Amino acid sequence: MLKICKLALPVALLVALAVFPAAADESLPFIGDVTSGTKLYRMNCAVCHGFDGSGVDPTAFMLKIKPADHRDGSLMNARDNQMIYRVIQLGCKGAGCKGAMPPFSDSLDKLDTWDLVAYLRSLHLPITAFFPEVDQYLVKRYTIGKMGNRDFKAGQMERLREVLTNVDPADLPQTVFALFRSHRRRPSPELVSQEPRRLAQLQKGNKIGYVFFLTLIGPRGKKIPVGLSLDTNYTITKLVTAMADPGVAGEYNLRLEKYAGMGKRGDLPEFAISRDKLGKIFDQAATRVYMLAVEAANSYELEERERSWADGTF
Ligand code: HEC
Repeated sequence: MLKICKLALPVALLVALAVFPAAADESLPFIGDVTSGTKLYRMNCAVCHGFDGSGVDPTAFMLKIKPADHRDGSLMNARDNQMIYRVIQLGCKGAGCKGAMPPFSDSLDKLDTWDLVAYLRSLHLPITAFFPEVDQYLVKRYTIGKMGNRDFKAGQMERLREVLTNVDPADLPQTVFALFRSHRRRPSPELVSQEPRRLAQLQKGNKIGYVFFLTLIGPRGKKIPVGLSLDTNYTITKLVTAMADPGVAGEYNLRLEKYAGMGKRGDLPEFAISRDKLGKIFDQAATRVYMLAVEAANSYELEERERSWADGTF
């Protein structure tokens, strides 16, 4: 284990990242060990982030900025592995986030840090669980019915109302993960920043599909966190729960996996595959998350069309 003085490593890392971003990425191992990461997390991080990564911990109540929930796929996938690596090494101040997270560069070496990244990824559904081949991805937040011209907005709300009858305004803000292949294979997917120059490099033809993290309303109104992926034709490739309890998750997943292969672009879905009462509740719940995902993807594609129109790639 290399011992480097407290200041030298963050400064060296910052310089390396600023001058040689690609070289710095490739010199790092990307596959950490979850078991070792679990131990390291409990020793170094649980005091603030909670034993389970939820951020709910007695000590954490004293922090002005509360640690976020590391089990939330929508939030954690909005950081790529390199970003998480950096925040652990440099702390919030060095990595540019808000909060009293200290740097760990003098106590955790490179391998320890990758073990922690691996552990953090095991707490939520990573985008690679849906499309292992992803090289680059984009995260965008939209409010359905609030974008584009009047017809576009009205069309979104009409389709939702037609299928869902009542639309909860709390459902309208959604996060879209758009996934791409690229010519340069990467050891771990890269989150592309929102700069126009970077966005223009993402070719529509290299898009693999979309991933969403939503709440499915199960039997007796139970809120079940799920991950949903669509291919570029808006067909469901995967619908799984993000619940940690393997027993409960297994039971839900048996029902949810039946919706893979359903839905397609331009069709209003009818997920009526069940005869029993419980099954019908799942049919409705799956239809609801599907509709929300499709409309969020429509918002993304509207923006993508406008972007690629301008540079002639559409
Ligand atoms: C003194 C309390 C404290 C400790 C100890 C701590 N953190 Fe944090 N951490 C925070 C706070 C506060 C934030 C900022 C709020 C947020 O984004 O979650 C944060 C943010 C993060 C983030 C998200 C950064 C971002 O981009 O928004 C990650 C990942 C993280 N911590 C991982 C760790 C890991 C791994 C450890 C152990 C090596 C650790 N933290 C130790 C308090 C702490």
